[in-house]
Amino acid sequence: MKIKDAILEQVAGLKSQYPKDEIKEIAFAGRSNVGKSSLINTLINRKNLARTSSKPGKTRTVNFYKINDSFRLVDLPGYGFAKVSKKEKEKWNLLIEDYLSTRENLKEVFLVIDIRHEPTENDIKMYNWILENGFMGFIIATKYDKISKGKIKHYIKIIKNKLNIKDEGLIFAFSSKNKLNKDVILEQINVIIDNF
Ligand code: GTP
Ligand code: MG
Repeated sequence: MKIKDAILEQVAGLKSQYPKDEIKEIAFAGRSNVGKSSLINTLINRKNLARTSSKPGKTRTVNFYKINDSFRLVDLPGYGFAKVSKKEKEKWNLLIEDYLSTRENLKEVFLVIDIRHEPTENDIKMYNWILENGFMGFIIATKYDKISKGKIKHYIKIIKNKLNIKDEGLIFAFSSKNKLNKDVILEQINVIIDNF
């Protein structure tokens, strides 16, 4: 799939701010700082349309990116970021939950994980939720450029075992630095948009 056009269509801190139509959406969920916003930038060939930061907790709203005027990629706040107040954490969790559990436009959720880190209890919860809600359960394991090539199998195996994934084909190693598997992920998105 070719990305011809991408715009930040809507930033939502409340459900009432979600776009009101039936355009299909694909969302990216995961811990703070794993690289969800960077992944979106890479997929759409933009350096900084989705705002990123080396500090966790950059994305604090549900951000809707409209692609080729035909579907949306949705950037969610990260979870599991220790350095915010309990109240703030609850607010973000509610935003994530509200979007994921009520959005009819949502056709797939990709779970984004830092390839170097063993999935956390929150990742396991999120992954189980994704499966229970009838989604395929794709994983994007980011920051692949930070490990040596020979170690990739080792890290993928840890993710596979911890999340109890049967089919390794569901896991994509990815890097927003060298763009590994960018086209494979875009093709997968294309299949989802065409078929669901
Ligand atoms: P929140 O919005 O806080 O949930 O974070 P996020 O998951 O959107 O992460 P973001 O894209 O802001 O990236 C966090 C940091 O990781 C930034 O400093 C990025 O430059 C860096 N980063 C993201 N992806 C990669 C990658 O594939 N490789 C490397 N080396 N760095 C990455
Ligand atoms: Mg972000």
